[in-house]
Amino acid sequence: KSPFENAAVLSDSYSSEASELADIEWDNLGFGLLPTDYMYMMKCSQGGNFSKGELQRFGNIELNPSAGVLNYGQGLFEGLKAYRKEDGNILLFRPEENALRMRQGAERMCMPAPTVDQFVEAVKETVLANKRWVPPPGKGSLYIRPLLMGSGAVLGLAPAPEYTFLIYVSPVGNYFKEGVAPINLIVEHELHRATPGGTGGVKTIGNYAAVLKAQSAAKAKGYSDVLYLDCVHKKYLEEVSSCNIFVVKGNVISTPAIKGTILPGITRKSIIDVARSQGFQVEERFVPVDELLDADEVFCTGTAVVVSPVGSITYKGKRVSYGVDGFGAVAQQLYSVLTRLQMGLIDDKMDWTVEL
Ligand code: COI
Repeated sequence: KSPFENAAVLSDSYSSEASELADIEWDNLGFGLLPTDYMYMMKCSQGGNFSKGELQRFGNIELNPSAGVLNYGQGLFEGLKAYRKEDGNILLFRPEENALRMRQGAERMCMPAPTVDQFVEAVKETVLANKRWVPPPGKGSLYIRPLLMGSGAVLGLAPAPEYTFLIYVSPVGNYFKEGVAPINLIVEHELHRATPGGTGGVKTIGNYAAVLKAQSAAKAKGYSDVLYLDCVHKKYLEEVSSCNIFVVKGNVISTPAIKGTILPGITRKSIIDVARSQGFQVEERFVPVDELLDADEVFCTGTAVVVSPVGSITYKGKRVSYGVDGFGAVAQQLYSVLTRLQMGLIDDKMDWTVEL
């Protein structure tokens, strides 16, 4: 029996719990943790393979104080979303891409990783067991957070002797407090997020801790988030703390190329394909910060942020604004195609969605 069949059995046995909608206020969901019913756990030893995981009640986990993830940051995470369709079925978006990205990250971080099948089946199982937490159509999505961590004890610096793969979920709405309104970014030119040869190109937990200082300072000044520059020339765009960036000029949409220091976003990759299918020319290249000055539009992409229009960018005290108030036309068009695909409202010619 596949783990997925187990999930069906398990969620059947909790059918009243799994089939109805959770009793929460579904309007105005933000991006904060709402505890749900189940999480998925699977363990394996260093040098071994993940074999059998299981669902358990969502709650705190126990870790040795000497766990590799706590002491040396040996950990990765992923993010993907499930949407409820009008017919009640649930859609996942490109889960195998997250599985592959976790495997690439695990190689960089000296960790064993679940196979693509194990990852995708575990995601399906977790979503089905928490089905009542998938928001009604149009109210948001279920954010799925897979984690891979060195959970075994180490004292000297070395890969941990044991690993835990865990998935938890939470219903979410808009990521930024601005909602769907444009965000205001500030370019950071002293602190950097990633270095060549470092871990910027994988989704390791430390990449996100590294941005908190600049992000907190920016938020204290009223900005929504920080846009990072490359650390060598201090001139080329990299990414925003939690998402990738795109710059629009006429029919050309440019985005920083994947070269090891920026995260290869799955929404980024999808938007590039969607934009090309809509007749735009998309360039993946070095994008000098100066190009922000005469861009028509700027927008960010990510699983959590989806497609977020940028209203202004401040660089060395100079503020450039885009549009009047609202989405730029290009960001609007791409957002609309992508989200209609993710929600099952248009034909999925790309074969990106997985129906549960
Ligand atoms: C996502 O978009 O899923 C991410 O992993 C970014 C995170 C900082 C919320």
